[in-house]
Amino acid sequence: MQESELPIYGQGDATYKAAGELDGITALVDRFYERMDTLPEAKALREMHPADLTVARRKLTYFLSGWMGGPKLFKEHYGPIVIPDAHKHFPVDMDSKNAWLKCMEQALIDLDYPESFRHYLIEKLAIPAESIRLMAEHEAKYKA
Ligand code: HEM
Repeated sequence: MQESELPIYGQGDATYKAAGELDGITALVDRFYERMDTLPEAKALREMHPADLTVARRKLTYFLSGWMGGPKLFKEHYGPIVIPDAHKHFPVDMDSKNAWLKCMEQALIDLDYPESFRHYLIEKLAIPAESIRLMAEHEAKYKA
């Protein structure tokens, strides 16, 4: 592919396509949770989750599908979601936020996604991840 023909991630469904559509995202999320089970720095993050990750896997896969410009499967199956609100009861701090992003980065490396895509995705995912951390911090500070 010529440099000029490279997809511009974030436009239309370019990110969804680059991720390998639903099959690719499903494999990425599976690998992400495998990493969460094995990376030592993800221990506290893993403990925030239930033992059985079946629903968590499906929800993250469906969410990422729409977030990447593909079918809005999360909304179709579970209704609307505001990501920081959905996490405000979890004790997210800088370490668990970084661990989440590390699991995702490692999953992208394991699955041989191109470096440009990896960097793009991690940079974009860091935005909602930071909103989640700030919301959790706010909740912890102001809850009665
Ligand atoms: C900042 C670090 C993050 C932490 C510590 C975290 C932690 C969690 C936990 C513990 C759950 C509940 C799982 C369950 O009960 O099955 C969850 C659910 C979820 N997370 Fe995260 N998460 C983080 C970042 C993100 C990001 C960046 C996204 C999306 C881009 C995301 C998307 C979701 C979705 C869609 C759900 C399902 C929500 C629902 O139950 O309705 N998370 N997360």
